[in-house]
Amino acid sequence: MPATFTKSALLLSLWLGLGQVQAASEPGPTALATRLGIPHPAVIAHRGASFDAPESTVAAYKLARDLGADYLELDLQRSKDGVLFALHDNNLQRTTDVASKFPERRDSPANAFTMAELKTLDAGSWFNTAYPDRARPSYAGLKILTLDEIIDIAQGNPLHKPGLYIETKEPKQFPGIERDLKDKLHDRGWLSPAGSKLAKSELAVGQGKGKVILQTFEKSSLELLQKEMPQVPKILLLWVGEGSIEPKSKVPFAESGEKDKAAYYASQAPKDKAEFQRWVDYAKAQGAIGTGPSATLTKGGDQSYSDLVQPWMNQYTHDQGLLVHVYTVDDAVDFQKVMDAGVDGIFTNRASELLKFYKRPAAASVDQLLKNIGY
Ligand code: G3P
Ligand code: CA
Repeated sequence: MPATFTKSALLLSLWLGLGQVQAASEPGPTALATRLGIPHPAVIAHRGASFDAPESTVAAYKLARDLGADYLELDLQRSKDGVLFALHDNNLQRTTDVASKFPERRDSPANAFTMAELKTLDAGSWFNTAYPDRARPSYAGLKILTLDEIIDIAQGNPLHKPGLYIETKEPKQFPGIERDLKDKLHDRGWLSPAGSKLAKSELAVGQGKGKVILQTFEKSSLELLQKEMPQVPKILLLWVGEGSIEPKSKVPFAESGEKDKAAYYASQAPKDKAEFQRWVDYAKAQGAIGTGPSATLTKGGDQSYSDLVQPWMNQYTHDQGLLVHVYTVDDAVDFQKVMDAGVDGIFTNRASELLKFYKRPAAASVDQLLKNIGY
């Protein structure tokens, strides 16, 4: 059966007299997700449950897991001595105390530090300062995590095993990281999903064939990921700007007259329809199973970007046989908006809220779950 779900295919089946039964079995995003072992719609915990706990730390990932998120999302980097670890930013200033522990190296990229050096940093206290209403004394001193440690967390709750949704972050800084990732996933048994019986169970996501999804903004990394791990689902992340979709207007933020970056990004659009379609077509041609487009958030903020989940965009992507996982959405008004527009899953900092929205609420509150895991 072709992996596309075009209106023309549906019309053809009706014309051939195949009727409603055949029409109902036409492939669509739900069927594609099911075939790939990916929940539909998917709850992707962006840097863990990073609204409620410091991003990419043990508290954030254990909380996301115990809430029942489908995937733990992480940005992959490699230390100076070759250890794979999770960190979003290029350097350590925003989320650690690098300025006091290594003042002369405060601006250095994270990959200029050995894993032992990274492990000396406090990756939790910044959160208490930035978000006093969500602060917990136990967050102070949380550590940067290796990929091995995140795998341990994903496997650590017998009642719910989430998958991993791994981004190669700034992959040009890390030649060979796609191969390193493959070796690690292979060594940890994450490239050999369990059988179909288990994949249908409650524990499915982290044990079935959709247990790992790979994501990148970089075309070159997508190609390397496909070469190294052709059997693993991949997403091409999309945004409007340098290195990705060409914008209609090339006026930079400083000259745009917009009051903040969120407003500037919200005003950015692809150069034209064909430019958007070219990126989707490229993703498909390279073996991706979907795209990860940005969203414009109602409240703005530093994770609000161009609106790349307009209904026609999602329809076009679906027509190519691809899924749409939008980043990064936290509020019910925006959950509703992007679902109405047709997305197949959401990256969120607030897995607890998205699970409620999907009528899959966690068994306990965020506060209780954090207490259960010692925070
Ligand atoms: O990976 C999806 C989303 O995380 C992309 O944005 O900058 O938060 O990694 P970023
Ligand atoms: Ca990411």
